[in-house]
Amino acid sequence: MATTDTGMSRPRAVLAERATRVRGGGESPFFQLLKLAEARGGDVITLGRGEPDIPTPAHIVDAAKDALDAGYTNYTNPAGLPALREAIAEKFRVDNGLQYDPTTQIIVTTGAQEALAIVMQTLLDPGDEVLLASPFYMAYEANIVLAGGAPVAVPTREEDDFQMFASEIEKRISDRTKLLAIVSPSNPTASALTRETLEEIADVARRHDLAVLSDELYEKVVYDDFEHVSIASLEGMLDRTIVINGFSKAYSMTGFRVGYMAGPTDYMQAALEPRHSLSISTPTPSQYAALAALTGTQAHLAPMMEEYTRRRNAMAATFDELGVTYSMPRGAFYFWANVKGAKLPSFEFCRRAVTEHGVLFFPGSMYGPEAEGYIRISFLAPDDQLEEALRRFATVYRECQAA
Ligand SMILES: Cc1ncc(COP(=O)(O)O)c(C=O)c1O
Repeated sequence: MATTDTGMSRPRAVLAERATRVRGGGESPFFQLLKLAEARGGDVITLGRGEPDIPTPAHIVDAAKDALDAGYTNYTNPAGLPALREAIAEKFRVDNGLQYDPTTQIIVTTGAQEALAIVMQTLLDPGDEVLLASPFYMAYEANIVLAGGAPVAVPTREEDDFQMFASEIEKRISDRTKLLAIVSPSNPTASALTRETLEEIADVARRHDLAVLSDELYEKVVYDDFEHVSIASLEGMLDRTIVINGFSKAYSMTGFRVGYMAGPTDYMQAALEPRHSLSISTPTPSQYAALAALTGTQAHLAPMMEEYTRRRNAMAATFDELGVTYSMPRGAFYFWANVKGAKLPSFEFCRRAVTEHGVLFFPGSMYGPEAEGYIRISFLAPDDQLEEALRRFATVYRECQAA
């Protein structure tokens, strides 16, 4: 078998090259920290992954069980169950003021994550650039790079509440710019774009004729009466925007793996075969559960947001006491906390927290090259655990400060 200069067989070298194109790989901070948490056994409070601890509402779980009992265990149309697409179209109409044809403009996907992969794989040619706010959710970077594109970071700052400014976007537009990605509310910064900011961004998109991806997965997880606006609903934006959304966050349905995408007919029809090639269709019982989520009572939302708001405020109070600064989350369920006072690289700070104190959160370095000095810490644990996690956080932070 042919070998390369390093002595590695050619197939192995090719595989390694492809895998390492994505920042991280097997030994990324994410996997290292998960391993360290596992090694410590049960005594770790995890404020890491964006996994709601509030249970899935019972009627949604029942719908999945009923679907199984009824024998709905086959593939569906790759675009998703017609009834679910109709319910999604209705949701867009009521919540976002958007009119989509459920038969030609909506595709149900296996999580919003698959929608993201479909968009990057169907839009990007090698070398195409995607503008996105930094810090960013790492799946964006991975999917852009795997599709042969190049992420172009648009920096956002704590002093601006991590708003993504139109002027900063415009400066970075080149003749290779293919797409502008907007994630609002944002993972990891928990910022959310106001209507005014979105109007300014839409103006840039129209003037430069940009396609836009709008990830609205945290749309219903917003605080203090924040008004979520879909950029697709602004003038001249519907035909250039692909909206991504899903069920994981608002309905505590991460394990069901249901998301969806909507956009202009030509594009959505062209995207159907790539979607089919990726996972054929979304798990059928999960689609029935998603249908129940949209058509059933929404009564869980208000108490869920009350609970998240209480937790958010408790975490903010701990940070205030410690002198850890942050921008108050407007959406999602994370703090993007400034831990420069710990005087350690963010990974090292997280490593100590998990190995020595049994509390897991993620380092800024996972979320882009400019995100050092921050951590992403979720408030997705019941009260007693969250209290204990905050005590542990305070201990490790004070220890590092004093060292
Ligand atoms: C901004 C954003 N988009 C997409 C996803 C993927 O979500 P899912 O595939 O569970 O719908 C996540 C998950 O955390 C996210 O934070």
